Amino acid sequence: MQDAGVVTGVAVAVEGDRIIAVGPQPTLEREHPDSTRVDCHNRVLTPGLVDSHTHAIFGKARFEEQELRASGLDYMEIARRGGGIHSSVRDLRGRGEDELLDLAAPRLARLAASGVTTVEVKSGYGLTPEDELKSLRVIRRLGERLPMRLVPTWLGAHEIPMEFRELPDGRSEYVRLLVSTMLPGVASGMLARFADVFCEPGVFTIEEARTILTAAQSAGLGLKLHADELRPSGGAELAAELGATSADHLAAISESGIRVLAASNTVATLLPGTMLFLGKEKQAPARALIDAGAAVALATDFNPGTSPTTNFPLVMTLGVSQLRMSVAEAVVASTVNGAAALSLADRVGQIAPGYSADLALFDASDVRELPYWYGDRRCIATWARGRACHNSNGETL
Ligand code: NIG
Ligand code: FE
Repeated sequence: MQDAGVVTGVAVAVEGDRIIAVGPQPTLEREHPDSTRVDCHNRVLTPGLVDSHTHAIFGKARFEEQELRASGLDYMEIARRGGGIHSSVRDLRGRGEDELLDLAAPRLARLAASGVTTVEVKSGYGLTPEDELKSLRVIRRLGERLPMRLVPTWLGAHEIPMEFRELPDGRSEYVRLLVSTMLPGVASGMLARFADVFCEPGVFTIEEARTILTAAQSAGLGLKLHADELRPSGGAELAAELGATSADHLAAISESGIRVLAASNTVATLLPGTMLFLGKEKQAPARALIDAGAAVALATDFNPGTSPTTNFPLVMTLGVSQLRMSVAEAVVASTVNGAAALSLADRVGQIAPGYSADLALFDASDVRELPYWYGDRRCIATWARGRACHNSNGETL
């Protein structure tokens, strides 16, 4: 992660959806005389950024909760009172597939306009078999419609729905519903690449998460885990034990969690925008994780409750200024390691021959400007699989 592999004075040759060469411009021009040229004017060209953690399928915004938190009400307390995730669940259940698609498409376009070309999108605001499948079908249709690459994740275990919380055996009944009804529907429709669980005291326990994820693994899904976000509960350890592709959040990870993750192949995905927006002082121990040898990725956690941002470079700013990462580490975390957090590192996240032609061009002359102009939107253009996603006229395609 110390070396982002920055080179200067080079051109990139693309054929179809692949990068075929990176090298001095005169050489590439000689080798490909008939190709269409895009002049990048000596600006910064990065691999398309990889946002490996979003909850982009939701209905209404939840701006009323921001003031409640500011006045002292905790995130988990808002959820206990039926707000938070429950409020998005009530809202999503009342909306149709087309409507959800129309709401999500411009949000994803805004992510693309910030430099993102690959985005993981979770379900998790449905929490019934029907509403979770509806959300996953929306993700599939968006993936067919948009040039960016979408990776669908089933997060039926985002919360215990209110109607189950009110029953005496509601928790175990909901876990049974997840494993016996929802998961087979997701797997048979091939609607998700990953399964995820919000493992946190007050939401799903370690044992419940283990049951759900083990079943998902047997059904052929890769694993992700919302782990140790607010309080340490052994989530990182569970992710490593199950061979999860990523463990996400980790602001409250324990010392042993850091050691175990560092020794595993599980990517530690950090979401500093969430802690910033929730007004928490604590951030994930990125330095300790990196120094121990963990692969760290950065992502937006784009969602209506805890991280309503579609500005990926802002997350890189937080990586450097709050998590104390170097610029090289933040760039690697947003590209190569983001791809690894989606099991795509052999195809995505690098400007190298054979890799997907996913590129982002920034109005900057030095890569250190990406996290520097914080909150700014300096992405001029993005291409995903060789196709334009967003261009300098401010159009998103
Ligand atoms: O990643 N932590 C759980 N899920 C989301 C928040 C979802 C919500 O509040 O709507 C997160 O922060
Ligand atoms: Fe999340």
